[in-house]
Amino acid sequence: MNLALITEISRLTPTSSVSKTAEATLAGLTAAPRYLPSWLFYDAAGSRLFEQITELPEYYLTRTEREIFRANADAMIAAAARECDELSVVELGAGSASKTLLLLKALAARQPSSLYLPIDVSDAALHMAARNVRSALPTVRVQPIRADITHAEHFNLPENGRRLALYIGSSIGNFDPDEAVELLCWLRTQLQPGDALLLGTDMVKDEPTLHAAYNDRAGVTAAFNKNMLTRLNRELGAEFSLDRFRHRALWNGERSRMEMHLFSTERQMVRIAALDRGFTFAAGESIHTENSYKFTPDSIAAMFSRSGFALEQSWYDEANWFGVHLARVVDAMAEPTEDGAAA
Ligand code: AVI
Repeated sequence: MNLALITEISRLTPTSSVSKTAEATLAGLTAAPRYLPSWLFYDAAGSRLFEQITELPEYYLTRTEREIFRANADAMIAAAARECDELSVVELGAGSASKTLLLLKALAARQPSSLYLPIDVSDAALHMAARNVRSALPTVRVQPIRADITHAEHFNLPENGRRLALYIGSSIGNFDPDEAVELLCWLRTQLQPGDALLLGTDMVKDEPTLHAAYNDRAGVTAAFNKNMLTRLNRELGAEFSLDRFRHRALWNGERSRMEMHLFSTERQMVRIAALDRGFTFAAGESIHTENSYKFTPDSIAAMFSRSGFALEQSWYDEANWFGVHLARVVDAMAEPTEDGAAA
């Protein structure tokens, strides 16, 4: 980051959420090429639009992953628990927990009582997850944890039994590969050897299917992408004109990812009051708003082994469009032999 940018950032009040938005916007719009971080999607309107995306006919991810859970929840819980009859479930980014219910039902059928710990930054999401699980499964105790998983906090997870961490919905795909490994390495520090992780990933597939999923005909993904500009207009007094930016999602085969962009339709200057400056966009210039990485069995195994997990089993839909993978925390310490020496 250059000095001028650091000086500008230091003028912004460091603690408020507006200033977090301002800092991120300043950093992204002064970078080349320009970007805005994808967490800016998820204000109240953006979260509603994302829910709508998950129901679009073209957006196969959510329903495909749900089918995988529907068909395999019992097997997943049995494999995660192994012989242990005290499994608790920790979910990263719980959302409404609708897919998780399928797994928790399998868990409740196996154990007389169990513990579910949803972790999310959003109080509303935690509230919904807790309400849905408590009403459907009274034997499952719910202990919501309000936290941002990208801030590497420490969680007090239950000491007894075995923990199963869930990170589903292919949210891992919204991190660059090194960031994804960093997140999984942190998760590993919260778990113990023998604990398990179920990770949902979207798989590499034919380009037209991917393209349709992120450029839907009803324009919901376009509205979701542009909502970021609406948010900046509201929170930072920005003057983005929504019809002067065009949503486009592109497949980057070299990096194995769908990229979401907002392209300026013309040369224009956009003022942002909270930053006390304007930004000039060339016609056709992009603001890169999101990456959504798509995986292969090899890239998944490599990501796990870099993060201290060993891949044990994967479940796929019939077309191999989506995968749910069970990985086990590897004990980094060498196992002592019978006589106490390290093996
Ligand atoms: C949340 N995440 C897994 C979604 C994805 O597919 O990468 C976000 C999204 N972006 C556009 N459509 C959906």
